[in-house]
Amino acid sequence: MNTQPMGPPPGRPPMGRPGGMPIQGPPNYQQQGIPRRDRPSEEIQWVAQVSNGVVNEVSKAIIGKKQILNAVMVGLLANGNMLFEDYPGLAKTFMSNSFAMVLGCKFKRIQFTPDLLPSDITGTYVFDEKSNEFKFRPGPIFTNILLADEINRAPPKTQAALLEAMQEKQVTIEGVTHKLAKPFVVMATQNPVEQEGTYPLPEAQLDRFIMKMSMGYPSRADEVEILRRRDNRGKEDVDLQTLTNPEKIVTMQKNLEKVYVGTEIMAYIVEIISRTREDPRVMVGSSPRGSQALYKLSRAVAAMNGRDYVIPDDVKNVTIHGIKHRIILKPEPKIRGITGDDILNKILKETAVPAI
Ligand SMILES: Nc1ncnc2c1ncn2[C@@H]1O[C@H](COP(=O)(O)OP(=O)(O)OP(=O)(O)O)[C@@H](O)[C@H]1O
Ligand SMILES: [Mg+2]
Repeated sequence: MNTQPMGPPPGRPPMGRPGGMPIQGPPNYQQQGIPRRDRPSEEIQWVAQVSNGVVNEVSKAIIGKKQILNAVMVGLLANGNMLFEDYPGLAKTFMSNSFAMVLGCKFKRIQFTPDLLPSDITGTYVFDEKSNEFKFRPGPIFTNILLADEINRAPPKTQAALLEAMQEKQVTIEGVTHKLAKPFVVMATQNPVEQEGTYPLPEAQLDRFIMKMSMGYPSRADEVEILRRRDNRGKEDVDLQTLTNPEKIVTMQKNLEKVYVGTEIMAYIVEIISRTREDPRVMVGSSPRGSQALYKLSRAVAAMNGRDYVIPDDVKNVTIHGIKHRIILKPEPKIRGITGDDILNKILKETAVPAI
């Protein structure tokens, strides 16, 4: 696999990390009037190779969930935070840990509980007797991949501390701002069964997650395969190869700026989002955060497919995961069992697909 980034063009100093790929601004395709489909794009090929390699490596540990693993990689490339709604024991911890290992990233986990305080996430100043001064003790948020387990078990104030940091990529404690690591991606989980003593995330907070998805149960055959592999390796842990590092991930994320999104694709995205606001069964449709999410996610899908332009199928591919949690249904259709998925499937079926 070619994971070697290109060197800088002769005579030009490298931008970005030393010795790494030069990071340029997005090419202004619009001004040129045409998508440059014939353009060889080593940067995008590189993103495709590395990210597919990562998914293949993680799928040595996580069986039968390739679609979810691909979606997680898309979310990582789009630099978005993801929410998993699942029952316990469906390998969420195992998956996020495996991604961190293969990506060469720091990983931390926070178990949300009713008594968790904002400072348990962000960190706090503690008095150091030796130096006779307060020193910052960073919380678990200072990592690359953060698994926020059962996020709806902590009270809103604590949830807000995480969500604010997620949005701003920094935390301010005692008036001092601390930048978070790059990349910084939250994988939050919540239990689908509404339990007593939980604090469901307000809809406005759900909007901050780029995608919401579920691992779901493995099939019978896959569950047998999980046991067979466990038996073969003779131990609990799965050894996975580290294929990348935080700097490379940031470069991959920046390379998405080179993926062309035509005006007709933008109009297609906006059409889908607008229709979520117009469906009579919907109380509140998606905000413009939804169209930005589709824009970012579909570029990541295109790049993972080694393409430097977005096609309508890329948008379709991410619409359900990217938008379903941004739709609030009216009570009556909700009682009848209608879901965000149903609304979006109908929209996707009915919306004219642009010819590109
Ligand atoms: N699709 C799968 N592929 C491989 N292993 C799996 C899969 N699904 C479940 N497992 C196994 O199930 C066990 C539970 O996984 P894990 O602890 O990651 O679950 P979890 O979703 O984090 O659970 P909880 O919600 O209780 O924290 C692990 O030992 C894992 O090996
Ligand atoms: Mg777990």
